[in-house]
Amino acid sequence: MREINIGMIGGGTVGSGVFHAFQTNGALMQARLGVKMSFRKIAVKALDEPRPYEIPKALMTLDWQNVVNDPNIQIIIELVGGTGIARTMILSALEKGKTVVTANKALLSAHGPELFAAAAKSGANLYYEASVCGGIPIIKSLREGFVANQFPAIYGIVNGTCNYILSRMKQEGADFAGVLADAQKQGYAETPPDLDIDGKDAQHKIGILASLAHGFWVDHHAIHTEGIRDVSKVDMLFAEKLGYTIKLLGIAKQVSGRKPGVQVSVYPTLIPNAHVLASVNGVFNACFVRGDVVGDTLFYGRGAGKDATASAVLSDVADAALDIKMGGKVRVPPFVTISKKGRIVPMAEITSRYYLRLSVADKPGVLAKISTILAASKIGISSVFQPEGQEGESVPLILMTHDATNLAMQKALAKIAKLSTVKAKPVMFRVENFE
Ligand code: HSE
Repeated sequence: MREINIGMIGGGTVGSGVFHAFQTNGALMQARLGVKMSFRKIAVKALDEPRPYEIPKALMTLDWQNVVNDPNIQIIIELVGGTGIARTMILSALEKGKTVVTANKALLSAHGPELFAAAAKSGANLYYEASVCGGIPIIKSLREGFVANQFPAIYGIVNGTCNYILSRMKQEGADFAGVLADAQKQGYAETPPDLDIDGKDAQHKIGILASLAHGFWVDHHAIHTEGIRDVSKVDMLFAEKLGYTIKLLGIAKQVSGRKPGVQVSVYPTLIPNAHVLASVNGVFNACFVRGDVVGDTLFYGRGAGKDATASAVLSDVADAALDIKMGGKVRVPPFVTISKKGRIVPMAEITSRYYLRLSVADKPGVLAKISTILAASKIGISSVFQPEGQEGESVPLILMTHDATNLAMQKALAKIAKLSTVKAKPVMFRVENFE
């Protein structure tokens, strides 16, 4: 039986999870694959750093170069994270012709073209299943399972922290700040939580999925990204009354028309309660993938955590081992041709429906002025809702609109915000009907 050695850089929570999962199911994997695999070296920050599962001291080294330079190691797992030294580690391993397995979405997002070009140059492979949606095999599914499809739309709940916060806000009527503090206490949200809360982590992930689905590299700067800081418990409540749930959605959607392209974006979105994504709660992730041949499909599972991530990392290790067993290193190319160009449709051109929450003086004529502004921008109102208030006081006015471009909506909102009867910055969320 062919023998393959694995080296790992990073022996903390996720690294020890990978090692533990291999201890548990490595024999099963080997039997399934017909390849003998073993961990040979694991680079750690400190020999005694706290880790949920033990790693034998004999395997540990404090120098990552010992792992990359070991001529007997064919597969390198990078679990260091971040966009600094991890890049050097991966490039160094690829230059040596070693296959790399990474969970590092931030690094792929920032330096994807360079890393995939390095892999192509060296003839090695770069696997990244764990970078998006943790344990859900979404990369492999897009790349292999759906190879015969084009992708009209992908909608992803790809950040567990945001989903946890939004789910609790909805279920408990809780405030954003309180739930965020709790999420940090429980170790879900990063400290500081900006990467999650401001939508950056979701941006990295939807960028990777969109690139894979559409065959050109999506630069993360082109991804319109909004986080969940502006979602309040009253919006949750009003959305619920209207039959919707608010989720942070990563969207990669084909746009047709005069100037076709792909919408790639992240923003809090009202989705109908009847849609399957509305019932994805807590830290769970889900991807709703529409293929032109297969139709609608749904992937659901844990998007983070040592064990879910270990499952994805080891699936990449298995693929890498099979590549080597079959006498090559790139059975399935890691990515698309990075030189190919595609068009990311600017947000101003994107059409959607909208939820608006305005804080208005409760007196005659206010609604007329607002609807006049919307009508002038050719934005139709589909429903209006105003809880009763005392005359003269500010009250919420909730409007749902028909389809309009983001440009038209932004222009209308700028005018609405200037009305003396509008007492606070208008709140706007887009609505997705998955059509
Ligand atoms: N911070 C990420 C999340 C971890 O909350 O989903 C997994 O990428």
